[in-house]
Amino acid sequence: MQATAFAHPNIALVKYWGKRDRDLNLPAAGSFSATLGPMRTRTTVRWGVPTDRLVLDGTERDAAATARVSRWLDLVRAHRPGLGGAEVVSDNDFPTAAGLASSASAFAALALASTRAAGLELPDDALSVLARRGSGSAARSLFGGFVEMRPGERADGTDAFAVRCQAAEHWQLQVIIALTARGAKKVSSTVGMNHTEATSPYFRAWVETVAPAIVAAREAVEARDFARLAAVAEASALQMHASAIGADPGVLYWRGATVDVIHAVRRLRDDEGIPAFFTIDAGPHVKVFTLPIHAATVRERIIAVDGVHDTLEATIGGDARIVEAE
Ligand code: PMV
Repeated sequence: MQATAFAHPNIALVKYWGKRDRDLNLPAAGSFSATLGPMRTRTTVRWGVPTDRLVLDGTERDAAATARVSRWLDLVRAHRPGLGGAEVVSDNDFPTAAGLASSASAFAALALASTRAAGLELPDDALSVLARRGSGSAARSLFGGFVEMRPGERADGTDAFAVRCQAAEHWQLQVIIALTARGAKKVSSTVGMNHTEATSPYFRAWVETVAPAIVAAREAVEARDFARLAAVAEASALQMHASAIGADPGVLYWRGATVDVIHAVRRLRDDEGIPAFFTIDAGPHVKVFTLPIHAATVRERIIAVDGVHDTLEATIGGDARIVEAE
């Protein structure tokens, strides 16, 4: 009745921003991501305790934080009645302020550990559907390498899951994360995307960019065409943020340093011919992709930007996996 799983965070190269069903957490469009390593979430689930308990990074969480996980655990209990409560102990080996969606690796590790501990062997797509109910980006973190999220068409969301396009070994890219602010973000991704959908005149136009961008990103990764992937990823990030900035009132995640890093990345590429591109999620930090041989130069230029107080480095990570089960 106990299992431990690892899952890595991921970064979308074609963004998810908007839901077609809020209750079932169904995305309005697909997305495409790169899984990151070596950072990871490690989660142990033990069933059969009197009530649900959540211990995150060594701290027992309050009722409100536990309630979100409890509601999600109900989905597993629906598969196998009589499981009782679950004790969930989860640790991230990367700082929460890193601007990496820790909910992605968290719900992917939780989906894997909790189903295995319950004695359920779900196929990959069903596991991805389950992770998606916790967090949209978590559906992608079950798989390593380069991953596509399919939006699906069914009302029940059983066809809205992620699939691996290429394993991590296909293309080792390096990611440098420029930290441009301290502290937690002010507008969560769910609040930001729902507000964009409700009030931005650019929301529909944004959604229409996604499907062709996914095709282009998938082909660029398959061909290891860095320049093409750079163009697609930067356009998708800027179009997502444009839709959010166009909301009423506008949702603006960027700081001054965010914009300065964008310019630094473009200078690296245009003036020095160094392959690099940026992407930005629902926060102020900038994730810069490059090839491993250029990582040191890229890092040097990024850390020199005023307002960048630190950088983190990542590579392309592998699949989520079970490490212990009994
Ligand atoms: O998985 P959520 O609900 O935290 O949403 C993630 C939203 C973005 O990080 C901005 C984009 C993405 O596709 O990961």
